[in-house]
Amino acid sequence: MEKCILKHQDVIEAHGGELINRIASEAQRQEFLSKAEQLPSVQLDARATSDLEMIAIGGFSPLTGFMEQQDYEQVVHKMHLANGLPWSVPITLSVTEDIANPLEIGSLVRLNDPDGRFVGVLELTQKYAYDKKQEALQVYRTDEDKHPGVKVVYDQGGINLAGPVWLLERHPHPLFPSYQIDPAQSRALFKEKGWRTVVGFQTRNPIHRAHEYIQKCALETVDGLFLHPLVGATKSDDIPAHIRMRCYEIMMEHYFPQDRVTLAINPAAMRYAGPREAIFHALVRKNYGCTHFIVGRDHAGVGDYYGTYDAQHIFDELDADAMGIVPMKFEHAFFCKKTESMATTKTSPSGPEDRIHLSGTKVREMLRRGELPPPQFSRPEVAKVLAEAMQSAATA
Ligand code: ADX
Repeated sequence: MEKCILKHQDVIEAHGGELINRIASEAQRQEFLSKAEQLPSVQLDARATSDLEMIAIGGFSPLTGFMEQQDYEQVVHKMHLANGLPWSVPITLSVTEDIANPLEIGSLVRLNDPDGRFVGVLELTQKYAYDKKQEALQVYRTDEDKHPGVKVVYDQGGINLAGPVWLLERHPHPLFPSYQIDPAQSRALFKEKGWRTVVGFQTRNPIHRAHEYIQKCALETVDGLFLHPLVGATKSDDIPAHIRMRCYEIMMEHYFPQDRVTLAINPAAMRYAGPREAIFHALVRKNYGCTHFIVGRDHAGVGDYYGTYDAQHIFDELDADAMGIVPMKFEHAFFCKKTESMATTKTSPSGPEDRIHLSGTKVREMLRRGELPPPQFSRPEVAKVLAEAMQSAATA
């Protein structure tokens, strides 16, 4: 299990061995800009826009573009790329037939973001139809369109456009420029700090005590903690990224050792694919230079679609060496009244009646009523930020 830990190199290798960079050089950018008016264009949705960004900065290494059919089929059915590397989630640019039909294989396609801005270029190598229901069943483990990830698949076009991409330009993040640390930079940072082992933490929710507990438990056994909240597209009832980031800033000020913890944004979109997404989240953090990755209860889950620990079990289906990043698995954490400390079902002597754990829904209800969640659930400074945000959303 520990074989992937660094021996001779300073920072763990990117997935596939090379950190991909698909940001256009200045000369390429000028060339693309000069051709822009003549190129056929395709409008990306929010998810494809962040996928383009993630590919370009190396977060999705070894991918250099949107998946061709062989990779797509292998990923959907076998959780591997055509070259044999583990990969669990399709990265595709799906459009309708009327958009796909006029595009010629071998041509360059201009990619516009949802606001119509020219953001990238695709060299079209393939277009292919795919089976939406199979993708839903294999990747999301359900074909119900109530599932937010499945809904995206059902709503998108039925043809995948594939081929290598270039991001026209790397802009600072409009909301979080100081937390935009791309994989090449996080790798340099870990090296500079002398961190040989780094644990990555994925999250799309405001930080609570159970998060803090598993983060710190993990940090006890490695050199550094990479807090990596996802700030790409999430479902509409998730707490907005700027509020979640404010909570993390507060935690960094008051509750984390600054020299052992780095806070950075993950610009990827959420897919809510539970187990499959846990693998994907881990591989992305490997590309950022993490050697370990936290997987707690119902990681990347939504509703009742996945078993509490399915996202942990799925790691056993893949070759640990080929994954190259070690999952750190945590059971359900809560405040234990008997021992007056955070614990998990593994370490607490108490029964359910002595445990303080609140669901996200319950916390949202409390905040809407103007009540603060108890300090055993949330740090008071964080609870205050959430309550204020909830109140101003209610009066907006
Ligand atoms: S996620 O969709 O990004 O997974 P969330 O931000 O809630 O959602 O979780 C971030 C990480 O913390 C995941 O690995 C999740 O499994 C873990 N986690 C969240 N709450 C708990 C808890 N009470 N006990 C153990 N692990 C948890």
